Parts: sequence; structure tokens; C-alpha cells
Amino acid sequence: EKGGYDHFMLKEIHEQPKAYRDTMRGRISEDGRSVVLPELKVTPEHLRGINRVHIVACGTAMHAGMVGKTVIESLARLPVETDVASEYRYRSPIITPETLVIVVSQSGETADTLAALREAKRCGARVLAITNVVGSSVAREADDVIITLAGPEIAVASTKAYTSQLIAFYLFGLYLAQTRGTKSEADIAHVLAAMDSLPEQVEKILAQAETVKGIAEAISKHSNLFFIGRGIDYAVALEGSLKLKEISYIHSEAYAAGELKHGTLALIEEGVPVIALLTQEDLYEKTLSNIKEVKARGADVLGIVNEGHEAEVAKSVDTHFAIPRTLPLLTPALSVVPLQLLSYYASLALGHDVDKPRNLAKSVTVE
Ligand code: M6R
Repeated sequence: EKGGYDHFMLKEIHEQPKAYRDTMRGRISEDGRSVVLPELKVTPEHLRGINRVHIVACGTAMHAGMVGKTVIESLARLPVETDVASEYRYRSPIITPETLVIVVSQSGETADTLAALREAKRCGARVLAITNVVGSSVAREADDVIITLAGPEIAVASTKAYTSQLIAFYLFGLYLAQTRGTKSEADIAHVLAAMDSLPEQVEKILAQAETVKGIAEAISKHSNLFFIGRGIDYAVALEGSLKLKEISYIHSEAYAAGELKHGTLALIEEGVPVIALLTQEDLYEKTLSNIKEVKARGADVLGIVNEGHEAEVAKSVDTHFAIPRTLPLLTPALSVVPLQLLSYYASLALGHDVDKPRNLAKSVTVE
């Protein structure tokens, strides 16, 4: 049942290239120039009339939603707010019929997410669900559904569901852009062509699992570490940190790199591992200067960088791992993979139950 892998999590990490292909299949026009989402009942007129988007989810699905915010804002130029579902309905969010609420849930059964969906509908908003389970409560109650085709996810730590949610956000962001006329056909075709390469690029990363294993074993000896990044890299840092905590029980925090000196820098001392994501070239110099700040306090820095930048980064970090080149918006679909492997191998090195971490359930059906 684990297909020759020791754990479901490792199997699911390795299933990601297939999950990407399956989630994209049939949703891109034959000429590769537009997105087709025949499953949507919402009309183009309705999508042209919305004036804001709320993305609501829990845990890892929320982290996918944070990437989704950047994707929708940059492609469709619509203001997007993200909320964890357990907070959303208690802060009296401003939901109008012109709000599109997107709920994200692998299982489609998370109680808080379902309650947020109901609240959004009660306020007259249309709800789009991104879920992995056909016929789940979230899928049944939402107005529109985009199913991620990751296949069943068994490990408590979500991996292929997260990355498939990213693919769903790219597709929907492009669909919104083409419907609202915020991107040209050529721009859309350019992003779609880059998406087409993602599965192969993930395969390239997976082929380097042994390298990540070595890094993970070193990290597993620490009890405290940090993930830093800017922009979309920060969203991935949050996901990397959650994954590590969840299955290795090592304490970690994710920080927007520029926020470090507003408090957290006090915790950096000799030998503390810092994992820095450096995939956004327009923010590159800024993040490098944050790396210098932690290095000056003795941190041991692992940089996740774009291929071609290794030489430059090697001077500022202790170790680096390169991901294949893609468009800046698409990097999370690659940069999260070494972080998933890192958590897996750290948990393994510590002898924990990788697939069933203590205190956690795969699907949280109580509020
Ligand atoms: O099934 P859902 O996507 O609604 O689940 C949401 C979270 O409970 C889930 O992503 C959780 O954070 C994972 N265990 C993370 O790996």
C-alpha cells in the first residue's frame, strides 16, 4: 500500500509530479494559451463584478492560501485577504455579494473551514472550494468547486495536497486574469508554459533526496531553528516550519526576513540553524542582508536558491540547495519540496512516527 516507500509521507512527496499533472490535465486549452475550468458554475459576468477575495482555510491549506493571495493579486489585480478559518467568523469580516470567498481544504471536512463557508454564504457571498475530496462536506456546500487531483493523502503531514492546491490557485488566478482582462493571452501562455515544466522540475529535486537527508540529520540535532523569507518565500517558510514542527517536534519559527531585527534576532546565537528562502530575485539583496545579520550572530544558514545563483549565494551561506529555474510566482511549487524532505528525514532521524505524529489528526472535525 505504501508502494515500496517506508512511509506514506515519502510516497506522497514522490507522487507530487503526478499530482501536478493530474491537477492541470484538461484545465489548459489545447493550444496552451488559456485556462478552461468547465466545472465552474460561476459566470464570467459574476467574476467581473467581484471586488475582493477572501481566502479562508486552516494549517497547510492556509499556507497554500497565502501563496494564492499573491497569485490572485498579481495576476487579477483584486485585493485578497487571507484568514485562518477559526478566526474568520469571529472578527465580523466584511462580506458582501461582491466578495468571492475561497475555502481551501484537503479533506473538505475541517469544521472551522466548513463553518467559515456557511458564514460566507449567509452573508451573500459566492463560495469557491478548492478541495481534494469529491463529495466532501465542503465540496457539497460550496457554490463552485475545483477538485485537486492529488489522490488520497494518508500521512497527517500534508504534502501533495498542498502543492496541488498551489496548482489550483495558479489555474484559478490565470482564469480570473483572462476573464477580467488583467493579463494578455501571451502573458497567460507564458505562465502556462512554465507550469508545464513544474512536474519534471520536481522530479529533479526529488532525485536529490539524499542530499537533503544529510542536511536533515544535522538539523535533527538542534532543538530550535528559524525559517526566513520575503514575499512568497515567507509563505513557504511558514509551511516549512509547520511541517518540521508537526512531525519532528523540533521547535521552529518562520519569520518575514525583514522582521527579524524587530525582536527575533535576540534568539539567534552560535550554531542556530536558519533556513533562508531566496527565490525572489527582486528581493534578493534585501534577504541577503538579513542573512548577514544572522550570520554575524553565529547562525548556521541553509539557503534555498535558484539554480544559477549558487556561486553568488555560497559566499553568504553555509550550505545551499538549488531549485530549478521557474517564474517568480511559481517558485513555491518547487521550493517547498526540499523543505518537505527535510522534515521527513529529520523526523526519521529522531525515530518519530512520521505518518502519525503525536496529538494530531488527519482531519480536524471539531472546532
Ligand atoms: O483537510 P484540511 O486541508 O482542511 O486540513 C487543514 C489542516 O488541518 C491541515 O492542513 C494540517 O495543518 C496538516 N496536518 C498540515 O500538514
